[in-house]
Amino acid sequence: CGIIGHVGDGDALETLLTGLENLEYRGYDSAGVAVQNGSGIAVQKRSGKVDELKDAVSDVSLEGDVGIGHTRWSTHGPPTDENAHPHTDCTKDVAVVHNGIIENYAELKAWLRDRGHEFTSDTDTEVIPHLIQYYLDDGMTDEAAFRRAIDELEGSYAVAAMLSGEHVLYAARKGSPLVVGIEDEEFFLASDVPAFLEYTDSVVYLEDGDVVVVDGDGVEFTDLDGDPITREPETVDWDPEQAGKGEYEHFMLKEIHEQPTSLAQAIEGRIDPETERISLDGFDPGTFEHVDAVQLVACGTSYHAALYGSLALNQAGVQATALLANEYSVVAPPVDDDTLVVAVSQSGETADTLSALRQANRRGADTLTITNVVGSTAAREADDALFIRAGPEIGVAATKTFSSQAVMLTLLAQRIAADACGHVPADLESLLPDIGKMPDAIDGLLEESAADAIARDYLDSESFFFIGRGLGYPVALEGALKFKEITYEHAEGFASGELKHGPLALVTRETPVFAIFTGQEDEKTLKNAEEAQTRGAPVIAVCPDDHRAVEVADDHLTIPDVDSELAGLLANVQLQLVSYYAADLLGRPIDKPRNLAKSVTVE
Ligand code: G6P
Repeated sequence: CGIIGHVGDGDALETLLTGLENLEYRGYDSAGVAVQNGSGIAVQKRSGKVDELKDAVSDVSLEGDVGIGHTRWSTHGPPTDENAHPHTDCTKDVAVVHNGIIENYAELKAWLRDRGHEFTSDTDTEVIPHLIQYYLDDGMTDEAAFRRAIDELEGSYAVAAMLSGEHVLYAARKGSPLVVGIEDEEFFLASDVPAFLEYTDSVVYLEDGDVVVVDGDGVEFTDLDGDPITREPETVDWDPEQAGKGEYEHFMLKEIHEQPTSLAQAIEGRIDPETERISLDGFDPGTFEHVDAVQLVACGTSYHAALYGSLALNQAGVQATALLANEYSVVAPPVDDDTLVVAVSQSGETADTLSALRQANRRGADTLTITNVVGSTAAREADDALFIRAGPEIGVAATKTFSSQAVMLTLLAQRIAADACGHVPADLESLLPDIGKMPDAIDGLLEESAADAIARDYLDSESFFFIGRGLGYPVALEGALKFKEITYEHAEGFASGELKHGPLALVTRETPVFAIFTGQEDEKTLKNAEEAQTRGAPVIAVCPDDHRAVEVADDHLTIPDVDSELAGLLANVQLQLVSYYAADLLGRPIDKPRNLAKSVTVE
């Protein structure tokens, strides 16, 4: 879900709607705004996308210089008008937007019902305005009532509240992200920086337990007890251009095409040209000397990057395992002082990943976050953080951040191997120069890709399979995930060698098989592809032009010939394009696939 808040001179509504559009990638099944001009609170909310809300507000007058808005990804209650935020109390004197989960909402609701409060939604959030109202009725000041209500909440929240008659927003954070934007005498609250990037690049990242009071004169930062705390603004170097679609029809296509740049940014300054050693800012040589095992935790696409990283670590001679973050908290493998737990997360806010990271911290492991978002919760809660510098990624389906995470992990693998094992295996020596060539390699691939034709030719199929071996395996999983996320067609990724152990039963002429060749035991992968082909399935080989698979396969997507550690990442770009064009032909809402959200902040 996404939160936006505005306090300042001028019309709040436009800022709120722009903010909601910028935040739609965080959830888009309903949206709403509340504004006030000192004489009362006006609320408009709708199920559906922000565009539907915009239509609704065009017919009504919603004037005011203070306001809050929300775009929702449902957790409690279906996406209806009633369940959309902002929520209000019975008298509409308090309006609240909230991300996270109030675990004790049922008890609070029952308690408030006993005291005459009537509820209109199924959400957990609605208890917050009612609680505030209850304490106001009890004679508390606005600020005291807000603080008291927050004290009662168990679970996670980023919450912003507006009370009738006052030019003030109250906000608090525990477990869900919240940032404050400052531009002269204009102030913004949001769950993520792109919400207000058009207006300011000066940002304060709130921490858990922070409570802020924002009025036209400034922002007061306090802890839960009301004691003042210091929070310094930071300047973010994302520009609004980067967060816009530019010449592209969809963010996803733009972000696929940004990969040469985003990868160059990920690599910049991290390979010492003289010594050809990895230099990671803040990590002196020897930092990882003691590490004898690495556990990588992540979800979704980041999990596939983590799996890629674990294989790169294994190949560099380091013991490593990738684990789904949501499984890690159930049965975490043992850790000791020499275990490094690496959380991989584009947003740095995924609740499952944070939960695994917190568990690793509690158990005494060294922790490191690899993320795109400076100031994110995962970056702050881990012992250390490495940033992939990919710039904002708005398309819900992750693309450029996968490549950057995988390259970052490949660099990290080399560094850990050098520190912990004293050397990097000889067969990986050509890797560093090849990493430097990746941006150009992707550039060339993007110019010549035949992915649109392949997507069209196979669109009518029943299911889509992706197979790969070694470092091609996580790419096969990612290829299938991308395909199903944005086309809504059935797609599965398999380790090439595993196809014959069950999935082959599904193979028919209606199930095209994308076979990824990375130079790791390609002969075996080719055999596996032929096993599918013999049973009627068309095979699309993803490999260099001069590869033997080209003759055997029915179709071919080309990749430049690079080190086998990197070939999978080039294959992945071709597969991203296939998914994109297939989804486009099917008319899917590519940047906002149904039921998904960019950042899932609930477990
Ligand atoms: C959501 C998104 C996925 C993403 C996953 C992990 O499920 O829809 O695209 O891969 O979260 O997100 P993270 O921000 O932790 O990388």
